[in-house]
Amino acid sequence: MPDVAAPLGLLAELTHRCPLHCPYCSNPLELIARQQELSTEQWCSVLDQARDLGVLQVHLSGGEPLARNDLPEIVSHARSLGCYVNLVTSGVGLTTPRLADLVERGIDHVQLSLQGASESSNNAIAGARVFKHKLVAAEAVAEVGVPLTVNTVLHRRNHGEIAELIATAERLGAERLELANTQYYGWALRNRTALMPTREQLDAAEPIVREATERLAGTMQIVYVVADYADAHPKPCMHGWGARQLTVAPDGTVLPCPAATAITTLELSSIVDTPLADIWYSSSSFNAFRGTDWMSEPCRGCPRKDTDFGGCRCQAFLLTGDATATDPVCSLSPNRGVVDQILAEQPPVEVELTMRAPGRVR
Ligand code: SF4
Ligand code: FES
Repeated sequence: MPDVAAPLGLLAELTHRCPLHCPYCSNPLELIARQQELSTEQWCSVLDQARDLGVLQVHLSGGEPLARNDLPEIVSHARSLGCYVNLVTSGVGLTTPRLADLVERGIDHVQLSLQGASESSNNAIAGARVFKHKLVAAEAVAEVGVPLTVNTVLHRRNHGEIAELIATAERLGAERLELANTQYYGWALRNRTALMPTREQLDAAEPIVREATERLAGTMQIVYVVADYADAHPKPCMHGWGARQLTVAPDGTVLPCPAATAITTLELSSIVDTPLADIWYSSSSFNAFRGTDWMSEPCRGCPRKDTDFGGCRCQAFLLTGDATATDPVCSLSPNRGVVDQILAEQPPVEVELTMRAPGRVR
């Protein structure tokens, strides 16, 4: 077994409840119901155990974490442990008084999602009239004075708006803008055909991002995450399986990556009956793809295996049915043809999106 370092970060998915219906949602098809969510005490225990393990960064996410009435208590608890606390939000319900209270309690940073650069495109993709709420939230962040990251998931419907998205993030006072092409997990996978950007869109985006990155250096950092289907090498997903971060789902299931429920062959553990340290160090799910011993060829003999870790386990499973396979995005993978075929079958016209259905729960 490889040496296992302590985790640095905890992604706490406080709830799957969300006021938006984004077609690119990476949460699973079947959401966790409110009645199955961990209690305040259980979340505080997760934080205690995570801090004992060595976690320093806590990302409060969902769904929409503001949907939890006990968010202030959870934030206070994370701060009392000395954690850096990031609020990942759609912005719906984030007013100045509410944010001021949360910052007083311990929020260090806000990550605000933006679905489109204009009211109409944002609301069309979010499936809800939320653009105005996002402007209110961004104003609150500026008034209260915490750092702001704007995050936009890119796809065929908004790829052409990249210049406007950059301008909007600048106007909102973001210190950082993440422009991340859709990853096809969960609900996003069922919309893959409709969401995949065209080669022309990807080619057009690059010079715009490059110019803005240079122009805004020192003012706003731009992080552009390319569409990995179009790449020759896979992304170093999670910086390696079970290496740096863990995710706790709303019901206490502990995931080596946020999309890990996609790998149906994994036996996942829960914080409800197993201590977090045991799960991190000893569970079969966290040890399944740690290090490089699990790899088969061509990864096993490849000089890049310590750089990209064989790519993404979830993607390998979803595209090949084998979570130990080389990520099919890799040009060396015997399954690269699967990705090439998906790219070749891109429709010439826009395809209808299936919006994230509310209320579908397991
Ligand atoms: Fe990465 Fe494996 Fe491809 Fe090598 S063969 S580049 S380790 S995915
Ligand atoms: Fe699960 Fe990449 S998203 S390993």
